[in-house]
Amino acid sequence: MSFGYRAGATAVAAMLAVFGAPVMADEVTVVSGAVGAAVENFTAYVKPWEEKTGNTVKLVPMPASTSDQFAQYRLWLAAGTSDIDLYQTDVIWAPQLADHFVDLTAAAKDLIPTEFPSIVQSQTVNGKLVALPLFTDAPALYFRKDLLDKYGVAVPKTWDELTVAAQKVQDGERAAGNKDFWGFVWQGNAYEGLTCDALEWVKSFGGGQIVEPDGSISINNPKAAKAIETAKGWVGTISPAGVLSYQEEEARGVWQAGNAAFMRNWPYAYTLGNGADSKVKGLFDVTTLPVGAEGDTSAATLGGWNLAVSKYSKHQDAAISLALWLAGPEVQKMRALNESNLPTIQALYDDADIAAKQPIIPQWKNVFLNAVPRPSAPTLGKYNEVSSKFWSAVHDTLSGNGSAADNLAKLEADLTDLKGDAW
Ligand code: GLC
Repeated sequence: MSFGYRAGATAVAAMLAVFGAPVMADEVTVVSGAVGAAVENFTAYVKPWEEKTGNTVKLVPMPASTSDQFAQYRLWLAAGTSDIDLYQTDVIWAPQLADHFVDLTAAAKDLIPTEFPSIVQSQTVNGKLVALPLFTDAPALYFRKDLLDKYGVAVPKTWDELTVAAQKVQDGERAAGNKDFWGFVWQGNAYEGLTCDALEWVKSFGGGQIVEPDGSISINNPKAAKAIETAKGWVGTISPAGVLSYQEEEARGVWQAGNAAFMRNWPYAYTLGNGADSKVKGLFDVTTLPVGAEGDTSAATLGGWNLAVSKYSKHQDAAISLALWLAGPEVQKMRALNESNLPTIQALYDDADIAAKQPIIPQWKNVFLNAVPRPSAPTLGKYNEVSSKFWSAVHDTLSGNGSAADNLAKLEADLTDLKGDAW
């Protein structure tokens, strides 16, 4: 793999030419996220494909924030650039970007029956398979087993229990001398990640899912307001005021330094938290996110990443071949073992190596199968605006700019305008 030079391709092409193989080596340019160890691991995933095909892969790492990536992708795609062949796409983008990508239905005909149908469905727009699933995502509540034991605190089932538990551990650890210790870290920055966190609060209080599957706008309701006010109560008490600028990696930084009792994060943080350089290695476990009150249901936002081939690519065949390799069972298994990413291929949930090394994976099958989708399907091309209006209303509330009730009433009016006659 290269980060911008072609020596690898040339060498392999020359070698194969010597042996008489009719070779036209291609270079495929891929953009992907850069969270955790994604970039380092990517090298290992593409290598067997490069060796087998004689092609090379150039990786263009993107910003960690999915919202920033989306803005960049939209610029490239609107300009019809042929510089990028393969895009790593968030689960929510399929309806908005579908027109720019190649239909992968025929190419993936053998892979598709091995996948969870709901995931394939999420990447299918008007019968077109827009992207191949790489991994799915559903968050966990990470907790410090050692500290809950030390303070005699049970694993919390409701958000109120979490608040009390986090405060108790925080008070104890600070009294013991760790002034940097916090009860609970999560994603409070104004970006797509806050939409995920806040949807979980709202849904787990019985406050709906912002826009329902039938397209109706449901967010302006007292349960949703209560959920967001509850989260506001954490800022500056059990969560640092700086949580309002945290994304996934900032939360993980505090957690892995051993400075938090609880963290909301995706499964990628499981492997990293158990890494050699982690202060919490072996000291934590995961459970499902809390509920509003007894009788409510825990909600995990459905995430996940996919690969889409650009319609403007000049290397489409090679890009499709690479996409099939990266989305196939060998790489999904490597990804599960190396990064604790949740596979989208059903059989990997029964894989003994994965279960032994990453117990969170079989444990999380039911969590992602029951996860709550963001309203990207009903709101179609307007999802990004819906989400940014939602995360702004939530961020305002968390920052003390207006009450949740007022901000949600205003959000409802804005979404109604945005919707017009139909999404
Ligand atoms: C994770 C999820 C993705 C989500 C993002 C938000 O990467 O997989 O779906 O949009 O987090 O930050």
